[in-house]
Amino acid sequence: MSDIETTRATALAELEALTDARALEQWRIRYLGKKGPVQDLMGRLKDLPAEERPGYGQDVNRLKQELVAAHAARKESLGTAPAAGARIEDFSLPGLQPLIGAFHPISRMMQEMITCMQSLGFEVAEGPEIEDEFHNFNALNIPPNHPARSESDNFYLEGNRLLRSQTSTVQIRVMESRKPPLRIIAPGRVYRPDTVDASHHYMFHQIEGLAVDRDLTMKDLKATLILFFSGLFGEDVDIRLRPNFFPFTEPSAEVDVRCVFCKGRGCPTCQQKGWIEMGGCGMVDPNVFKAVGYDPEVYTGFAFGIGIERMAMRRFGIPDIRLLTENDLRFLRQFA
Ligand code: DAH
Repeated sequence: MSDIETTRATALAELEALTDARALEQWRIRYLGKKGPVQDLMGRLKDLPAEERPGYGQDVNRLKQELVAAHAARKESLGTAPAAGARIEDFSLPGLQPLIGAFHPISRMMQEMITCMQSLGFEVAEGPEIEDEFHNFNALNIPPNHPARSESDNFYLEGNRLLRSQTSTVQIRVMESRKPPLRIIAPGRVYRPDTVDASHHYMFHQIEGLAVDRDLTMKDLKATLILFFSGLFGEDVDIRLRPNFFPFTEPSAEVDVRCVFCKGRGCPTCQQKGWIEMGGCGMVDPNVFKAVGYDPEVYTGFAFGIGIERMAMRRFGIPDIRLLTENDLRFLRQFA
């Protein structure tokens, strides 16, 4: 019994004298650990006469519970107390700065784009990142032997599935489940096995746009793009459509924005071109409408797809795409 009392007294006295979390943890290991006195006292149980065992066992258990509770209480009271030896009497020291979280530059860029398109009446739609070939290719009028399907340009999974290589898949998913008219945007991740360098990554973000209605024309597409980019870059933005080819639009174009840094004179950002490539666009191909059961004689539509990393890198002056996924707080904190 007296050993129990002694252990209690010394343990509690030591606990009271502790001043920091490290010492507290050492105390816990010393008294409550496998080789500590409490365990040792418990071990003596078997040497006692049978009639003394229950009472003794209860006493040791009570001691253990008491020490555990005292430990918890001390931990709480130590809380954020400064470590032993810290000079808390110096009240002129600055306080601790709490770390405040912030949105990732990609999320910020994406949110700006979404807000802008929502103001034009577009709704946000989503689709899966693991897709089937129908939504990633067939329905988008990309035929079986098209180079865009090649093994080396896609992350194929088992069972005719793949990581989607474009957000255009969401066009199909939305049209399958809804009737026109509709106006949607679909921001999200896409995957392509590109060799990673300063401007390429195997995962990046796109924002897809789709409008379907009666009588939509290229004029509506261009007006929408002008409003979109002026919402992002300011009123005096200038865009141009360069003829191109995409299987799911006809006609198709590449959309460029006059370089916002040099106003078109030529600078390092636009590689002296005066224009910056933003993505692809066009009028929805009738074959795409057929794939989802829309009548191409009744409906027309326009679509566009824009890379978000590129926009964010220009917007925030980020020189290397890899910075966006390294999770280096020294980089990310600059956007707080
Ligand atoms: N999906 C195309 C890509 O990833 C971009 C694109 C081009 C999307 C034209 C469109 C479009 O909606 O009409 O390269």
